[in-house]
This record gives sequence, structure tokens and C-alpha cells, in this order.
Amino acid sequence: MSEPAPPRVIVGSTSAEVDDKLALAARLRACEVPDRELLDNLGLFLTRQTLARILFMQKLYEQILPVHGVIMEFGVRWGQNLALFSALRGMLEPFNYNRRIVGFDTFSGFPSVSELDGGKVRAGDYGVADGWKGRLEEILGIHERNAPIPQKRKFELVEGDATQILPAWLADHPETVVALAYFDFDLYEPTKACLEALLPYITKGTVLAFDELNCPEFPGETVAVREILGLSRHALRRDPSNPLISYMVVE
Ligand SMILES: C[S@@+](CC[C@H](N)C(=O)[O-])C[C@H]1O[C@@H](n2cnc3c(N)ncnc32)[C@H](O)[C@@H]1O
Repeated sequence: MSEPAPPRVIVGSTSAEVDDKLALAARLRACEVPDRELLDNLGLFLTRQTLARILFMQKLYEQILPVHGVIMEFGVRWGQNLALFSALRGMLEPFNYNRRIVGFDTFSGFPSVSELDGGKVRAGDYGVADGWKGRLEEILGIHERNAPIPQKRKFELVEGDATQILPAWLADHPETVVALAYFDFDLYEPTKACLEALLPYITKGTVLAFDELNCPEFPGETVAVREILGLSRHALRRDPSNPLISYMVVE
């Protein structure tokens, strides 16, 4: 039986970079490091770009240490950021069981794409493997078991089109305050709808982070931010190690 086709994604790397990533991935899958040592040696396979991204997530997390509220990610995909935020919570504020981490995704890729999204992507792109939400829950559950206060469930995956489910989720959780919202839908409509729905739940100090502002491949995310927040209301900050991620701290 043939393998299912990999999900369609936009790749910003050069073909030489892609070749090297594939070479490292092949060595990771085939490597002789025994399972019990594998996770302790993942640094072997980290690229500069991945490491820069992880370190940036730490910088974002450090900014919300004095801010009350939950972390939300809009566009989870395989779930790496949720796992990173969970690890960072264990490192930086191990007893803050109130810092729940909530991720929104269809877990089947883009439900639709608008004319404002630049024409390079289409519905169904950025999908994941069938059943991935359940496997991601297992992975995050293992991390939670090994972190402080494991008896408190501190993460939630919310499946479906976020433009439809976020308002219902917020109505079901009227206690919500958002400390960090990480927007990584890449697209105009869900970014606009979710940003707008979230505004009553943010506070001074809330960090609103964006994966694709000023990104020609995904123009819709910037248009959404311009329409809902304007670009001049809060300073748009970045980190020298990462060309794309940016964030605003609500003042
Ligand atoms: C670029 S990926 C997210 C990558 C992830 N944050 C990471 O760092 O690995 C974009 C995700 O947004 C999701 N998405 C796009 N539009 C959505 C919508 N309207 N509702 C829910 N999820 C959506 C897609 O399913 C996809 O998983």
C-alpha cells in the first residue's frame, strides 16, 4: 500500500536547506541512540532555526510571568508550541497551575482560504495525520504527568473551525483572562474573527504574538491585525534571531 501524500505546506527554505533537513530527519529516524537516551540527545538534530524558535518562545513566556491568565494558541498543527509552553511553565512558574494552555485547530488543515490570503495556499493545506489530536493529547499528557501538580489538567485541545468554536468556548469559560495569545493560523478570516472575539478577555500586559506578520506568502494575517487592532496602537516587536515572529504587549 502506498504512503498517504504529505500535507501541502509552503516551504521558505532553499533546496539545499531542505536537503540538509531531510538528511538530518533520515538520520534521526535511523539513529542508533537507544530510546532511553534519545530525548536527552535531541540537541543533535536541532537546526539553528528550530533552536531560535524555541528560545523565542521562552522570551515570550518570560514576558507573561507577571500577567495573570491562560495561554492560547490559534493554529496548533503538530503541537510543538503547546509542548514548549508546557515545558516552560514547568521551568519558569512550576506552581502556577492556573496557567492553562488551550490550543485551537481543525486538525485537518485550513478549512477555507480567502482572496486576501495571497493565492499560494488552499483549503486542506497544513493538515496533520489522521487521529493526530488524540496522539497529541497523549504526548501532552505525558509531559503533564512529569511536571509539577500533575493532578490538575492544564491543557485543552479544541477541535474545529475556530471562527465558530472560539465564541462558544469563551461563553462556556466566562472566567477567562488571556495572558498570551499566539496566532499562527496564517490566514485572514480566522485571525480576524478570533482576535476580535478575544479583545474583551485581554488585559494590560497581555502578549499578542503573530507568526506571519509582514509575510508576503501569507498577507491575510497582517490585514486582519490592521483591521482589528491597527498597526500603530501597540509597538510591534521582534527578536533578532527570528525573521517572522512578532508580538505586541497590550498597554
Ligand atoms: C502553520 S500551522 C500552525 C503551526 C504551529 N503553530 C506550529 O508552530 O507548528 C496553521 C494551522 O492553523 C490551522 N487553522 C487554519 N485555519 C483554521 C481555522 N479556521 N480554525 C482552526 N484551525 C485553523 C490549520 O489547521 C493549521 O494546523
